[in-house]
Amino acid sequence: MARQCFINEYIFAYSEEEFERANSLRDRLAAMLANGAPFPVLWLAAVGAYFPLFSLPSIETVMDQPWPDDKSAISAVLALLAQQVREPMEERRCHALIPRLTPVTNEVSRRVQKQYEENAYPRWVKLPPGGTAISINSYLRKRFPFSQFKLMSSGDKIGSEIDILIAGCGTGQHSIATAQRFKGAKILAVDLSMTSLCYAQRKTQEAGLPNIEYAQGDIMHLNTPGRTFDIIESVGVLHHLAAPLAGWRNLLSLLRAGGFMRLGLYSEYARQSEAMARDFITKRGYEPIAEDIRRCRQDLMSMKDSGRFKKILSARDFYGMSECRDLLFHVQEHRYTLPQLKESVHQLGLTFIGFSLDADITEQYQQRFPADHPKTDLDNWHIFETENPDTFSGMYQFWVQKSD
Ligand SMILES: C[S@@+](CC[C@H](N)C(=O)[O-])C[C@H]1O[C@@H](n2cnc3c(N)ncnc32)[C@H](O)[C@@H]1O
Repeated sequence: MARQCFINEYIFAYSEEEFERANSLRDRLAAMLANGAPFPVLWLAAVGAYFPLFSLPSIETVMDQPWPDDKSAISAVLALLAQQVREPMEERRCHALIPRLTPVTNEVSRRVQKQYEENAYPRWVKLPPGGTAISINSYLRKRFPFSQFKLMSSGDKIGSEIDILIAGCGTGQHSIATAQRFKGAKILAVDLSMTSLCYAQRKTQEAGLPNIEYAQGDIMHLNTPGRTFDIIESVGVLHHLAAPLAGWRNLLSLLRAGGFMRLGLYSEYARQSEAMARDFITKRGYEPIAEDIRRCRQDLMSMKDSGRFKKILSARDFYGMSECRDLLFHVQEHRYTLPQLKESVHQLGLTFIGFSLDADITEQYQQRFPADHPKTDLDNWHIFETENPDTFSGMYQFWVQKSD
């Protein structure tokens, strides 16, 4: 229970009395730790179900405690201490080791940075097992068999490396998945948030991947002297910038001619429920702090007409603190429509390769627009989306190619 509560960053609601008792147990445990006095081992689990154990002063001394003989109790306690003490300490030490590529001076970037320093996203534990790594050409050919684009000249050569930039890598789920997906991947993963980068670094070491390098930087000003990329991925990021198109353009300046870009942007149509919940939050004045996020969730769940928030209540992100803040309390969010996306793709001179969508959605689209074999006609997709507004609830996730 303590481990689950730590993972969701204590999002579950509690009564005042319950909290007072947890608080008083924490104080007693802290006093025992400070005096080096023995305490019942279950106290660690009870306190760890309400507060992260690393927040207790002198918690490091806990590693020297004599534990009971019960082997299963020891392994449970050690797993809890690894999660709530050792791993957060590892992440803290890592702050000094991550290189900084740009200062963060833009006002919006600073606010976004603050959010993700306090609430790194996503907070994840395990990746689903990845398949075998394949070349970028095989990957794109398989995903978009009828789309018109040029294969990467070195893309199928055995032993060739591909340089990949992950712009806004978050806590590493994204960079690790990409590192495992592409043969020869050599990755630079950048983010504003040191907390996220250190989480990512720890998980990357845990996965034993030597091919990802992490650095702090702002996409608005990012430059990587002497270094360009074959692929740039930025998913769930550009819509949080002060000027998304300027950020997109900046990233393109780092992409080699003929290179590929994978982006994820919020859809205006698919985010109607989130927009409604954001209005509710503004009207009621909840702040983006843990206490208010907890209160807001309880209020949303217990409203008489909670049915209108059904989509929110069943969203995975509703069940974790950092995720819920990202979902409903974000300091900066732009939303797009497909005509706007089409205009940006045109302005930037890019070739649209296709959307990453579940097969059942693309089949439905194919039935609706049988003549569009490549499935790249954004006007048709716009009609399809207006008829099926939840099509892009996982964002507009798509690939484009820079001309050579
Ligand atoms: C919603 S998370 C997505 C993380 C990751 N791409 C994923 O899909 O798991 C957005 C991330 O973008 C980062 N970000 C936002 N604006 C940025 C900027 N201007 N420069 C660099 N990173 C930025 C945030 O710090 C945050 O970690």
